[in-house]
Amino acid sequence: MHEFRDYYGHRVRLAFADHPFSPSPGHVWVICRYGGRWLLTDHPRRGLEFPGGKVEEGETAAEAAAREVMEETGGIVGRLDYIGQYEVEPDIVKNIYFADIAALVERGSYLETNGPVLLEALPDDIRADHRFSYIMKDDVLSLSLAELKQRGLID
Ligand code: GTP
Repeated sequence: MHEFRDYYGHRVRLAFADHPFSPSPGHVWVICRYGGRWLLTDHPRRGLEFPGGKVEEGETAAEAAAREVMEETGGIVGRLDYIGQYEVEPDIVKNIYFADIAALVERGSYLETNGPVLLEALPDDIRADHRFSYIMKDDVLSLSLAELKQRGLID
């Protein structure tokens, strides 16, 4: 179990275990790879971030992950791996997924975002980089990338 503060000072708990905080999380976050690059979305207020959002009534968290990726980037999820879960105080619980994107389709609208952004690499100094969203600026990202490496899902 990891415990740290987010960009705004909220307490975050994170574990790479089977749904440690809630069996039915309200949110999902999806780390996406497409053709050897990272696939993010450009949120007009928050900036660049991996896609995600709220689980809607009647869908599973995995279904929400695939839907949010499609809505925010046009990405069709090929393989989806559950990685772990984090909780932001007081009551946000988010599943973390890793998605291998099979194809990218162009959409007329990307909901509340400006659509897909493909990056060769994530910057080392992402916390100081004003292009990126606050959700990319705490230990959730760095710990998740380390976990993906350890599982052999990324190089
Ligand atoms: P929308 O309803 O999509 O407009 O978002 P919202 O900000 O009103 O609500 P949401 O339920 O998504 O998030 C509520 C608060 O939880 C945010 O303002 C953040 O403080 C926190 N939060 C949500 N997601 C994350 C996350 O991935 N990381 C961190 N550190 N905080 C988060």
